[in-house]
Amino acid sequence: MVDITSSSLFQSNISTILHWPLARKIELLSSFSQCSASLCLCAGWIKPNEVPIHDITTNDDTTVIRKPLLCCSCQHPFDLHYNEKTKAKYWSSESTIEQVDSALQTLLDADLLIRFATSPSLSDQHDLSTNRTLLFIAQTLQSTITTMAIHSSRRDLINTNMSNLLGVCPFEQPCIRDAVINCVCSTTPTAASTATNDNQQLHVIFEAGKQFLNLLNTWKMPSNVAHLLWLEEQPAASVENMRKVNNYELWYARWVGYCIVPQLCPKSLTKYEPTTIFGYEYLSLIFDHFKSDMLTTRTLSPSLIRFFDTFQQTLTESDSACWSSSYERPVIPMLEANIESLLAGDQVNAPANSTNEQTEKKITRRVSKALTNKKQLKRLEPSRMITSTSSSSSPLSPSASPSPSQAQQQNASPLPGSEFINRVWSCVCERHEQRLRAEIEKTLFKANPKRDEVARLAEQRGFAEFHLIKHDLNKHGATETDLMYKRLLQLINVFSRALPKMPQNYIARTVLDPRHQSLIIVFASKVIGGICFRMFPHRNFSEIVFCAVSEYQQVRGYGTHLMNHLKDYHIRLNITNLLTYADGFAVGYFKKQGFSSTITLNEQAYTGYIKDYDGATLMQCSLYTQVTYTRLTETLSLIKESINVIRTHRFNQIKQAHPDAKFLANDIQTVDLSSYDSLLNLDHNETNSSDETVDINLLYITLKSVYQEIRSHPFASHVQKKSIFQDYLSTPPLFPIDLDTIQDRLKAKYYHNAYTFTADVSRLLDTAGRAYANQKKDISNEIRSYDTFVRRKMNEFGLEMGHAPQTYE
Ligand code: COA
Repeated sequence: MVDITSSSLFQSNISTILHWPLARKIELLSSFSQCSASLCLCAGWIKPNEVPIHDITTNDDTTVIRKPLLCCSCQHPFDLHYNEKTKAKYWSSESTIEQVDSALQTLLDADLLIRFATSPSLSDQHDLSTNRTLLFIAQTLQSTITTMAIHSSRRDLINTNMSNLLGVCPFEQPCIRDAVINCVCSTTPTAASTATNDNQQLHVIFEAGKQFLNLLNTWKMPSNVAHLLWLEEQPAASVENMRKVNNYELWYARWVGYCIVPQLCPKSLTKYEPTTIFGYEYLSLIFDHFKSDMLTTRTLSPSLIRFFDTFQQTLTESDSACWSSSYERPVIPMLEANIESLLAGDQVNAPANSTNEQTEKKITRRVSKALTNKKQLKRLEPSRMITSTSSSSSPLSPSASPSPSQAQQQNASPLPGSEFINRVWSCVCERHEQRLRAEIEKTLFKANPKRDEVARLAEQRGFAEFHLIKHDLNKHGATETDLMYKRLLQLINVFSRALPKMPQNYIARTVLDPRHQSLIIVFASKVIGGICFRMFPHRNFSEIVFCAVSEYQQVRGYGTHLMNHLKDYHIRLNITNLLTYADGFAVGYFKKQGFSSTITLNEQAYTGYIKDYDGATLMQCSLYTQVTYTRLTETLSLIKESINVIRTHRFNQIKQAHPDAKFLANDIQTVDLSSYDSLLNLDHNETNSSDETVDINLLYITLKSVYQEIRSHPFASHVQKKSIFQDYLSTPPLFPIDLDTIQDRLKAKYYHNAYTFTADVSRLLDTAGRAYANQKKDISNEIRSYDTFVRRKMNEFGLEMGHAPQTYE
């Protein structure tokens, strides 16, 4: 069930780290401490790679001067990262081992939660509310590191931060446990019963109440999406119920944060039982769902079922004494001991020091089970799943860009005679979206994802957000301004770590320059990468100044997806060139992003506008305005699938009609066509398709006229016979064509639709273009003008051919 990326590896890391020398541990923690030098923005110590000369011995051999280690990022000494301003208590050399270990534990717990949130077992359920809560708690833990020393204990600080995040615990008074005890005590046995019966009956009710509490404590609270689905399925789903759901996500986050996650990080977080921290509001919200789960999955005793009903009534009565904080429960001597033991069982967990690997695995499995909603979500209709998960709105999120099918509807004008192709394309897109919704494709963790696939899916699933920011001096509102500065500083930090040779103040000056903008990736509320660029719209280019992704997140496709977002953004603004000075290390990355050191932009356009760096290579990327780069790999794989479907379909048709037909090498990748229902339906209609209803005589009048035109051109002789030009080709064409062949085909009434004719002409021009490309200049010029002429003529006759390619290989 659980696969927290190699949990055991993680455990071994903990034990290794805890055995490090104190100085090394402090160094690790210092990477989370801000530098205290005035005006320094460095957010954490980075150890220099080169070992400096530590000791200089003076002439008298007694005085030793230590050359301080300088931070790679800000060039300030290590001391400035752990002096009194950065809370000396934890980072100074006087810190006790326990204090430092305790802080390290917090860091490791945060790391564990992030791994948990991004583990396949959770992300597969598309349960964003769970993941979001886990990531928020992880961030809360991390944020305690630098402020820890001002609090008397780490747990206090974490508790305060958790309360800021989720509210103060216990959330309601009286709690469910107290209300159950009140309910038991206020239930008077029937008048007809004898005294012995009274006692027995009271015990039965008490036991039923206890069981009720146990069931509620171990019940797996469904996520928001699963709960909504359940509600909709209820015949009596009232408007009132649906309205209450608004609050559900907060209660769910509280349940995750206080009752479930602490089992994973017992050393940092305190675990509570739901019945001791939640009360009336929580129970009213979940009671129906809880009861129905219990009735369908467990065999409940009649007394327990009766208790469910009785207790449910207390929720509906407006003045139920059980839920009143001023209620004084009657003292029932025979129950007092039992009630005392129930009250004493407050489940505040003690730090678990002695948990072995086996127990940890069990806990991890239990937590994972509690947080996944596989069963419930299975029933979820795909369309609803998308709506419920697309809540994370980043300005550059894919919701802003059209889906492949939408894009296709918007952009592609149908090819002549290509109704079948269009049908296949929409079928393939539809299946692709179904697959994505149904989560059959676990691409986030598959073995060989496409270059940007992991990052793209991380964005779609809400783990990562892409934002455009700049130092905007006119920002209104304290929260907005705070967030802007926080992100800009985090970005500066990412750049300074990734580009240690760049002076930090230069990076800060550039990123904070209002003329520069930055596209950033935010993961778990932290900036993990970005591109800082400056636009020159009137010169039709932008300069990429810095580009980096945090060390731990590299080679996961974030760099590619970030660049794709940048390209799409520029296309939207009609800027079609990106320029950058790439140093030796970065050239490889930029080449993979479509940059080249061949600069086609006019030198005057950029000289004096972009910064020149010694030893760096100027690279350019020209953008294709018809392409949506963030969807490019996805669209290409859809096109590939469509081609395979068409080929399989045609192959089957030909095989049926001509069982003895021989095919070229085994390059037909067969596809299971049974899943393309609408495509198969097309088979029956295909004979009636518009292509077939074309008046063949009328078609031939057009084709012959256009053929006469393109043949009468003086340069047509270059392509009259294949022997004239096809010898120039390094690889012979698979389907050779020339004007004579086209003429023969016209005579034989080979063309049943205009599209086949257009395809032949198109292939002819393409082959000729490649054949003459490296021949004498005048011939290649002639073939170019012939190409233009033919395309114009074809268009005049209504046979759409598109523009000529700019260069032939
Ligand atoms: N040289 C050659 N190839 C590189 C590379 C480099 N320095 N950095 C990344 N790549 C390759 C990756 O291996 C990957 O190729 P693949 O898909 O064929 O395996 C491809 O580029 C894209 O990788 P991706 O995962 O999308 O990029 P990333 O998230 O690792 O980010 C950088 C790439 C360059 C931003 C990141 O490595 C980084 O921050 N480097 C340090 C800073 C830097 O050099 N910035 C560039 C100049 S400002």
